[in-house]
Amino acid sequence: MPALDCRGGLFLARLPHTQQIAPPPRLRYEGTMRVLGIESSCDETAAAVVDDGPRVVTNVVHSQVAAHAPFGGVVPEIASREHITRIVEVVERALAEAGGLDTIDGIAVTRGPGLIGSLLVGLQVAKGLALSRKLPWIGINHLEGHLSAALLAEPRPSYPHVALVISGGHSNLYYVERFGMYRHLGGTRDDAAGEAFDKVAKLLGLGYPGGVRIDKTAQGGNPAAVKLPRSLPAKSSLDFSFSGLKTAAANHLAKQGQLEGQALSDFCASIQEAIADVLTKKAITAARLTQAPGIVLAGGVAANSRVRELLQERCARNHLWAFMPPKALCTDNAAMIAAAGWMRLSTGERDTFDMGAVSRWPLGETADSAPPTKSWRKGKISD
Ligand code: KG4
Ligand code: ZN
Repeated sequence: MPALDCRGGLFLARLPHTQQIAPPPRLRYEGTMRVLGIESSCDETAAAVVDDGPRVVTNVVHSQVAAHAPFGGVVPEIASREHITRIVEVVERALAEAGGLDTIDGIAVTRGPGLIGSLLVGLQVAKGLALSRKLPWIGINHLEGHLSAALLAEPRPSYPHVALVISGGHSNLYYVERFGMYRHLGGTRDDAAGEAFDKVAKLLGLGYPGGVRIDKTAQGGNPAAVKLPRSLPAKSSLDFSFSGLKTAAANHLAKQGQLEGQALSDFCASIQEAIADVLTKKAITAARLTQAPGIVLAGGVAANSRVRELLQERCARNHLWAFMPPKALCTDNAAMIAAAGWMRLSTGERDTFDMGAVSRWPLGETADSAPPTKSWRKGKISD
């Protein structure tokens, strides 16, 4: 893989090998294929059907929020049990809305990364259906699923582009050469963006799920009201760090006591601004470094109103296009998994029944070669 020479005197050093990446599937498929997608990696039990395009036929999501809310966050054991209880009715509903299992040509299911006990539920249902109907099936990387939400809208984003994947467990920047070819440019060194939203929401007493509650409470708030740190600023790195922000929030609350009314809105707007500022600045830097013409936003935090607004603004100012899937396709769903499955199954990729779930699976590596620790380092950027 050649080194990337970048504009403005910036240089992105040669990044580690990517030989484990499968050859990119063709973007166009001449036949017809209808794919059932199943997602159960965390706290949403979801099933969806996509047709050629890929295009959403039906998208069913059962949220486990009510089951986890009393505990202030996702409890893995409860998540697995909820998936087991709900998955059959969720899959049956998606299939009924799409015209039945007889209309399905292939199955895609989230294989990882995620909670193992939860992943296994979706995986076993997918395998059972595939076995009983002799259907081809494939295990999908959840992060590729998030990126594939962008394929469900028209017009689709073009390649290459930079992708910012921000969710409850991940904050990553990738250079996406084309579907299936990802180069990791940077990631979080501690908390993920969604985790930062959720932890601060907990400190504020807003409960779970935190991100969307901060988003709502921030409406009408002053984003400049509270001065908060921006860690790992600017061009020295494409990594993120949000743990300092969480500490600053805790210190502020220790001084001010529990916030209410306008003070609460101002604080939420300030936190949201700090997170959105860092995320969008780094994404723009990544696009400049790689000379990509645009940025695709994905993952649950991509539903945040300020992140969307600021990315749009900054992309326009930097002559880049910005692509954001509809909010409902940003948070966990199975349509995005079916879309990724459609891309892969359409070109003949298949998995075998000995394939298991994986809790760690960096995008751009095969699941079975994923290192158990963060030993895979990215190249350095110097300016
Ligand atoms: O992608 P996702 O649904 O699940 C994971 O793969 O993790 O992302 C969930 C994360 C949670 O941390 C949630 O608080 C955050 O996305 N989130 C938001 C918003 N909606 C969901 N964060 C900020 N603003 C939102 N509107
Ligand atoms: Zn997700």
